[in-house]
Amino acid sequence: QELQMNLEQIEKGGYDHFMLKEIYEQPNVIKDTYRGRLLANEGIIKMAGIEDNLEKFLNADRILIVACGTSWHAGLVAEYIIEEFTRIPVEVEYASEFRYRNPIINKNDIVIAISQSGETADTLAAIKLAKENGAFVFGVCNVVGSSISRETHAGAYTHAGPEIGVASTKAFTTQITVLTMIALRLAKAKGTLSNSDFHRHLQELEIIPEKVQEALEMTNEVAKTIAAKFKDSQNCLYLGRGYNFPVALEGALKLKEISYIHAEGYPAAEMKHGPIALIDEQMPVVVIAPKQGHYDKVVSNIQEIKSRSGKIIAIVTKGDTQVRDLADYVIEIPDTSDALSPLLTTIPLQLLSYHIAVMRDCNVDQPRNLAKSVTVE
Ligand code: G6P
Repeated sequence: QELQMNLEQIEKGGYDHFMLKEIYEQPNVIKDTYRGRLLANEGIIKMAGIEDNLEKFLNADRILIVACGTSWHAGLVAEYIIEEFTRIPVEVEYASEFRYRNPIINKNDIVIAISQSGETADTLAAIKLAKENGAFVFGVCNVVGSSISRETHAGAYTHAGPEIGVASTKAFTTQITVLTMIALRLAKAKGTLSNSDFHRHLQELEIIPEKVQEALEMTNEVAKTIAAKFKDSQNCLYLGRGYNFPVALEGALKLKEISYIHAEGYPAAEMKHGPIALIDEQMPVVVIAPKQGHYDKVVSNIQEIKSRSGKIIAIVTKGDTQVRDLADYVIEIPDTSDALSPLLTTIPLQLLSYHIAVMRDCNVDQPRNLAKSVTVE
């Protein structure tokens, strides 16, 4: 029997779209990203770019993170993780703002530039500005040999492999993986985490690929069912707190990018300062409510949405009962630590956007007006 497959179908490896393939690659690419760097049993994290510049990191007054798009969201997650683990002050800025506003950059600042492609024009310009002002610039890139990886003083690659879908998925989770390892390595050197916490985080990171796999298996079908219910919505609100506030932003960005539904991400407690006015029975609200973190606070936010008849889609930890009683739909994910939860809560949000876009007949891998790497301003 003759097999007729074009090159693109082969590249998609049996998946309908690159985006879906890349979502499913996440357990493996997260592992590829920490392989050889994270030795959980020995309590070791070693990354050449960090080891070679450890003194600079330890003496840094501040870390400035610059990035665009999804990479900027990874930067926000990293801000929470780095500050929590290392107590080094972190600021995160859109590269496009940073480059044009005469920012304060000191010699003792470290600038971390995050970029999947390593070619984003605004991020590259921000790096040049930081260098001119004497800062040490560290890159977190996916594409080996890219402009940003060459312009930075040092760096650590994500090992996500080629990302073809314009909407970034596996780049995001591998960026968080690299940045978490950096935070842990610095925390060890600074003594800002107790020995037992340090070891617990290492062990948890090591088993996260299995949990991501489990999350994929647990959430795909239910995301599809929920997608069918909400595919014709005009708007959607995403809420999260703490480590999952940036995940809410990223969930909303994914939906906008590929399904063209207007979506907004918000810190859950800010809802009362504006977005609550939008809530009625037409408004789907995706609430990220894992057990760890600010669970009780999020539950009260869910009650506020419910009393205004919003449709609640909640991302919860396996076995949750409290949110299940309030929400219209729940998507369960495995349990993990608060700090690592973005690696799991992101999964159903990626799948939800994907299925909605497919059901709306959108061009998932190449959405209108968007480019994979933005090499012009
Ligand atoms: C474009 C892409 C996004 C990406 C952003 C930053 O907008 O469509 O997916 O997050 O650029 O790209 P970078 O390659 O710098 O991470």
